[in-house]
Order: sequence, then C-alpha cells, then structure tokens
Amino acid sequence: MDDVLTGLLKPKGIAVVGASATPGKIGHTVVKNLIESGYQGGIYPINPTVDEILGLKVYKSVLDIPDQVDAAAITVPAKFVLDVTKECGEKGIKGLIVITSGFSEVGDTQLEEDLVRLAHEYGMRVLGPNVVGTLSNSDKLNASFAPFLPLDGSASLVSQSGALLIAIDAITYTRRIGFDKLVSIGNMSDVNFADMVKWLNEDENTNCITLYIEGLKAGRRFIEESVKAKKPIVVLKAGVSEHGAAAAASHTGSLAGAQAVYGAAFRQAGAIQAKDLGDLFDCTLALSLQPPMKGENLLIITNGGGVGVLATDSAELAGVPLKFAPEDVQEELKQHMPSFGSAKNPVDLTGMAGNDWYHDSTKYAFAHDWVDGLVVLYCETAMTDPMEIAKSLHKAITETGIKDKPVTISFVGGERSDKAMQWLVENGIPAYNAPDLAVKAMGTLREYARLEDMKAETDPVNFDADTKTAREIIANVRSEGRTGLTEIESKKIFKAYGLPTVKTQLASSEEDAIKIAEEFGYPVVLKIVSPDILHKSDAGGVKVNLESDDDVREAYNTILKNAKNYKANADIHGVLVQEMAPWTTETIIGSVNDPTFGATVMFGLGGIFVEVLKDVTFRVAPISESEAAKMLDEIRGAPILDGTRGETRRDKAALAKVLARYAFMVTDLADEVFESDANPVLVYEEGEGVKVVDARIILKEQ
Ligand code: ACO
Repeated sequence: MDDVLTGLLKPKGIAVVGASATPGKIGHTVVKNLIESGYQGGIYPINPTVDEILGLKVYKSVLDIPDQVDAAAITVPAKFVLDVTKECGEKGIKGLIVITSGFSEVGDTQLEEDLVRLAHEYGMRVLGPNVVGTLSNSDKLNASFAPFLPLDGSASLVSQSGALLIAIDAITYTRRIGFDKLVSIGNMSDVNFADMVKWLNEDENTNCITLYIEGLKAGRRFIEESVKAKKPIVVLKAGVSEHGAAAAASHTGSLAGAQAVYGAAFRQAGAIQAKDLGDLFDCTLALSLQPPMKGENLLIITNGGGVGVLATDSAELAGVPLKFAPEDVQEELKQHMPSFGSAKNPVDLTGMAGNDWYHDSTKYAFAHDWVDGLVVLYCETAMTDPMEIAKSLHKAITETGIKDKPVTISFVGGERSDKAMQWLVENGIPAYNAPDLAVKAMGTLREYARLEDMKAETDPVNFDADTKTAREIIANVRSEGRTGLTEIESKKIFKAYGLPTVKTQLASSEEDAIKIAEEFGYPVVLKIVSPDILHKSDAGGVKVNLESDDDVREAYNTILKNAKNYKANADIHGVLVQEMAPWTTETIIGSVNDPTFGATVMFGLGGIFVEVLKDVTFRVAPISESEAAKMLDEIRGAPILDGTRGETRRDKAALAKVLARYAFMVTDLADEVFESDANPVLVYEEGEGVKVVDARIILKEQ
C-alpha cells in the first residue's frame, strides 16, 4: 500500500492549518468535525493569533507541533497555501488535504502547479485543491466540512464534485446505503482517480469502489489500475451528452462522443457505468453487499403474478433473461405453495404466501445448484407482516450458508415494507422498493461477473511493422506543412503495418495509368490525389469500373479537368489507379486520439449503418484479437457478419486481426496521428479475407 497516500487518508495525526475559533468558518467546522467524528489521532489546530479552539491547544505553525503528524487539512486562503505547504513539508507531513479554492478551477493553473511541485519536493501528496475533505468510518475521521460521517458500510466513494459528496453524505441515511469512506478529489492536481482505485483496492474496509467522475486525468492509468482491481467499480460519469465531435475531419472523429469513448474505456476497465445518481446508489448497494452472479440462471420468487410479469420483462432488459427452472426444482417448489401457484419461473407463491412458504421456497431455491442468482419479490398483503417476511427470508438465506451466490429482494408496499427493507439492507441483503430495481441489481451483479471474465481474457498485443517507412512518410508530409495525408500516403502507412489495402499506385501520366491498369488487370478505379481535395467524389475525382485502356484514358483526363474546375489552385499529385475489389459487406475501421485516453479505435458496419444508424463501437487502443472479435459481435448489425438471409458468414477472424493491427498502428503512431479512417473495409466470405479500399490519416497539429 502507498504509505504516503495512507498517511493522507488514514492519518495518525492531523493538523488543521487555518483553524478558526469562529463558528461557521470552514477552518472551525473541520476541527469540530474531527472532534465529533471521534477521531483517535492527534488533532492540531494551527492559527497564529488564537490560543485555543474547541478545547484544543492551537499552534502558531505546524513546525511547533511536538508530535508526528501525517496529514494537514488546509483552510487558509489560496495566497497563503504555498507558504503553508513549505512548512508542512519541513514538518515531514505526508499528505495535504487542500480544501482551499482559487486554483485551476478559476484559471490559476500556475498556483496549482507550484503547489504540487513544492509538495513533491518534500515527498508529499496533494488531495485537491478545492475539496470538501475526506471522511472514513473505519478511522472515525471526518477531515472535511461535510456535516457528519456517512452511514457506515463497505463501499467507498470518490467524488469529483464536492457539493455532490456532501449531498451523498446525507442521502446515505435516507437511502440506507452505507459507505466506509467518502473522498473529495477536487481539481485532481496530484491524487487522481487511478491513485484512488489503486489505494482503495488495497483498503481492507472497502469492498466496492464508487466513483463520481466529471473528467478523468491519466485515463489510461485509470484503466490499468481498474483492470488490476479485485473489487467492483461503479462509475457515474457526468457530461456524456456532448463532446468535441465538432469539426472532426474524419468519419470516426464525428462519431467519437464522450459517452462512446468513456463507455468503451469503462468496459475495458471492468467498471460498471451507472445511468444516474439513483442508479449509482442501487448498483453500489448490490455490489457492496453481494457477490457476482457467476452463471446465467436467475430464479424469481414472488407472491404476485403482475409483479412477476414486470420482473420477467425487467430481467430481459437487465441482461439476465429468465428460463424455466428444471423439473426437479419445480417439483420441490410445488411443495411450498398452494396448488394454484406456479413453480415455473417466476415462481408465484400467490397472495396467500406467508412466512413459511417464503422461507422454505427461498431456502430450497437458493441452495439449488441450478440457481445462479435469486430475486425475491414481495407485495405487502393484509395477512402478512413485512418485517416477519424479511426475517424469514434472511433466515432462509443464512441457513443455506451460501456466500458465493447473490440474492436481491424487492418489497412493494408502504411504511412497514420500507422498514423491512431497511432491516434487510442492514443485515446484508440489498432490498429495493420496486421489482425492476431488484432485478436490475441482479443484472448488475451478472455484469460484474462478465466484466471480471473479460479482464481475465486480455492477452498481449505485438505485431511486426515497418515503422521506419511510416514515420518517413509522416515526416515528408510535415515538411510540406500538411496534416492531411493523401490516400496513397495513408495506404502506404497502412501497408507498413500489414493492413491489406487494395492494390493502389500513383500514375503520373495517361500512359502510366494504362500501364498500371494492365498490370493490375481490369476493371480498375481512378481517383484524384490531392491534399487539397479531401472529398474526391464531390470534386468529380473518382471513376469506377473502368474496363479498358480507352476507359482509363478518358477517365484520367476527365478527373484532372474536374479537379481543376473544383479547385483551380489545388496541389495535384497525380491520379491513382486502384484495383477494383469486388463489392461485398462494407465495414469501417477508424481511430481518434482522445484527449483523455489517447489512441482509440472504432469499428462499425459501413455505408448506411454508419451514416444513419451510427452503429459503431469503440475501444481504447491497443487491443488484442480476442477483444477485436468482441467488438465485431457487439454492434447491432453483428448478425450481418454472421450471415443472415441466405448470405454466407463473413471472414470475421481476418477482420478481427485487421482491427487489432489497426489499433496497434494508431497506438504506435499516437504521437503523430490525430484521426484516421479505413472506409470501406470490405469483408469477404469466411476464409477469403478483408480489403481496405480507402484510407485517410490526419496528423496532429504541431
Ligand atoms: N497559518 C494558519 N492560519 C492562518 C494563516 C496561516 N498562515 N493565515 C491565515 N490564517 C487563519 C486566519 O487568521 C483565519 O483564522 P481566524 O478566523 O482566526 O481569523 C483562518 O486562517 C482562515 O482564514 P480567513 O482569511 O478567515 O479565510 P476564510 O475562512 O474566510 O476562507 C477558505 C478560507 C475557506 C480556505 C476560502 O479561501 C476558500 O477557499 N473557500 C472555499 C472552500 C471550498 O468550498 N472548497 C471545496 C470546494 S467543493 C464545494 O464546492 C463543495
């Protein structure tokens, strides 16, 4: 475990620099919170003009403290923070909790950089600045200006929003969802989400890592640390509705919205993405109290037919569709319900279900090997007491002694049901007030298991490539002051990375074009090559299906004439001759250099699928072939590649290889390539391979 970060988050002693005797000031509140939370380490208020605060001796400087101090909560105005940091460093403090605002969030990045540099000179870490502070139930530590320690539990939350953290602190009591730690991460000048995931993964009091993220820093490290984590991670990402898709020069760039790229990164990280705040709580509740659902078989027990139908619908949406239970399970369950009940799935105990039926059926079902996850639904009835039902269910689950299989519960009713649910949560079983929420929670536990399996499958990526040629082409383009590569240049780079491009050659004259066409064999395609004409078809710069020398001659001259009409002063490199690949299933592969995650690849079906339906999927690069294969399967149009309506199956193995190679290429050239497209990439029948027809690379501005 990182000792320095441990010193910051679980300090043996803490100074409050800028402590105040005036109630209502942040420097006063932090001292008061430390006392009231029952913190057992030394609390050292620092203020040059006051002698005592809330009964504690006040020091003029941290340097006057006689004991060891691990952390300092800083509540002096921004202009004093550097002086205070220096003193903390000299004192040997490990970590600073910089509550003070007035840094990069208001544009003063210099002050923030100076703070981190100075802190690092002394080997200190910085939480913040611009944070609420940090809270920990297991350490009885409220080093913040949030009002109280949260309801105790085993999840830990890291929040980029201070205000939201304070709100969540209070909500833990009304929603009865417990947290061990709440950490406000603020401007993330130093300690970031990757650091926190790593540290919380090793924290014995945390078993679910809950994150509220506005924007990640060090996106790739976040993925790496999350992949290594052995605990569930659930993320609420704010700001997924719009992104810098504006003015993208490539197809891929225009499709790489914040959700597309973050969503891919979270999947790769093995993190579950919550839809909203309520969902964040629901997921946290399930993941912090229950193990993952390792198999596909979900059984639902209910006392209401309608609720059972609702739950069946929800199960499909939640990725855990119901199957009928095997005969032996049904036979046994029939012993625990009236004759007019149903032992299929959902198991309907009917409105007559009392404590015993709930207990016996739950106990039997939960213990049965076929059942991988159990959801129990209860609608409040006049004949039953919700608390009694809750206790029966808890008893049944406990009696099985099973700990590696999940159960979630829903109680639909009034105040008595709410109290019963609260009791269940306090006793380790996630309970929700709607059937769909209990089923969705089970879906989350299933997703967690799937994500864990996916993590285990990652294999190393290594391809041979002629990097030297690729970099020479790029250097040449740069020397001409360009960032857009021509199709010929882009294809040469693709080829250097082993991507199967259609035969393409630049012709400098009409005769040259005919010679190349004869070499390739008819039919061929002719296209204008000019860095000034990106949209070649719009300029009349493309002629397809040319069958003879005469066709080539005519096309050559027409293309040049059209190009000049389109843009009189265009820099024309010539006309390219291209083998005319037989048309088949069109796909698109592309890349963007995402500001947070770097090289990121996209895959989708081409033509109308990408233009209109935007049926594409992303991954932060590089990716293995098996990861690429998953991308092929996760687009909506995936069945087309498997062969639908009499079509034969496409060569998915070759396509996955090409996609992984492409990801390798854009990772290898990530310092240069801004966006790229291979569009279309033709995918032939199984065994017949893949061909990249058109290529586009756009370099980063320098
Ligand atoms: N060493 C020790 N104490 C000092 C020093 C020093 N070098 N210099 C000043 N002090 C004392 C002051 O004398 C004062 O104590 P007093 O009450 O006895 O006079 C105390 O430190 C605080 O200084 P003030 O000048 O009174 O500053 P104030 O308390 O008004 O504000 C604060 C300081 C809270 C850090 C403010 O600058 C700030 O940044 N506020 C925003 C904090 C915030 O919201 N952070 C979280 C963002 S997330 C969210 O929005 C929820």
